[in-house]
Amino acid sequence: MQVALKIWRFDPTTGGRGLKEYEIDAPEEATLLDCLDIVKDRHDGSLSYRKSCRMMICGSCGMRMDGAAVLACKTRMYEIAQAGQVPVISAMGNLPVVKDLVVDMDSFWDKFKAMKPYLQPGYEQPDDGREYRISQEQMNVIHKEALCVNCGCCVSECNAMESDPEFLGPQALAKGMRFVGDPRDGATVERLEQYSGEHGIWECTRCFFCNERCPKGVDPRDAIAKLGAETVKAGIDRDMGAKHAKWFVRSTETTGWLRETELVPKTQGVVSSIKQMKFAMSLVRHNKAGLAFPPHVAKDVGEARNLHKLTKAQDRQGALGHVQGEKALGRLAHGHVSGSLEEIYARPGAAPRPYLPEEEGAA
Ligand code: SF4
Ligand code: SF4
Ligand code: FES
Repeated sequence: MQVALKIWRFDPTTGGRGLKEYEIDAPEEATLLDCLDIVKDRHDGSLSYRKSCRMMICGSCGMRMDGAAVLACKTRMYEIAQAGQVPVISAMGNLPVVKDLVVDMDSFWDKFKAMKPYLQPGYEQPDDGREYRISQEQMNVIHKEALCVNCGCCVSECNAMESDPEFLGPQALAKGMRFVGDPRDGATVERLEQYSGEHGIWECTRCFFCNERCPKGVDPRDAIAKLGAETVKAGIDRDMGAKHAKWFVRSTETTGWLRETELVPKTQGVVSSIKQMKFAMSLVRHNKAGLAFPPHVAKDVGEARNLHKLTKAQDRQGALGHVQGEKALGRLAHGHVSGSLEEIYARPGAAPRPYLPEEEGAA
């Protein structure tokens, strides 16, 4: 098949940058990485990009195609070529470009290392002197996070990193959840303290681009949400983000609404709120302050309260309250998941079965 590509080239020796078009002949099963190899081998040996495994394992070949981060070795070109499209290939975002499609990953690896990405054992040696064994159900909690290949596609798309390059970011935090959720790790509280500090979990803007672009289904935003829930569960709530989240929960439980007027004092404290009095008065003048005393209570507030009661009754605190975990379990397509979700939840030591809204009488 004929494949046309436009590639953003960057020459660090001259600082020159430009879009160059290539037309190549490639086999129908070719991926984007195969096409780049053909360009380099037969048309322009000066093209630079990273690769190693060619099978979505090493995470080397992250780049952007038409503005969205992809793994080049996972991206088939057949349909694109058949549709006559000429995709634009460029280096990943949020990382400095070294040459052509190669980015400087130093800051990426620094953040990765800052997460202490290794087990800090906190368990007694088993009596029989053999290995410490944990159930598949316990490992399922961190199954998605363990799939990460450190490609950087999520970092490339992260909005929060654009405004704060120091933000730990989706890849590092997903790695953090991989160890926070591991029952063998003994440094959970220390980790949560660290991850929820400055540039940590509460800086995420919840744009979900990392979930959308991750080629391995890690869903880093979900991992960050789980870390947030674990942090609050552990009583680590000094950050305004944690206070904000706690007020959301309290407000919906008591009234069924988000009481935004009280959000600022509850999150930032009284002194900081007083400093913003001028802004608050301007909201009042424009009837935007949402003042109501006593606060409005939603007609069906019982539904919101039942939801709170259910999560408590099911003991789904912390990361276990993160409902998307079930979606991930449902998606597992590996040999060790035999039988239905019902059977999985019935196993000894399994996570509590979630309430599904359509279930009759569940509420
Ligand atoms: S959801 Fe958060 S971590 Fe993910 S890309 Fe958006 S800002 Fe970054
Ligand atoms: S979370 Fe996904 S996108 Fe991010 S580095 Fe890991 S595999 Fe790549
Ligand atoms: S070359 Fe290894 S993930 Fe693409």
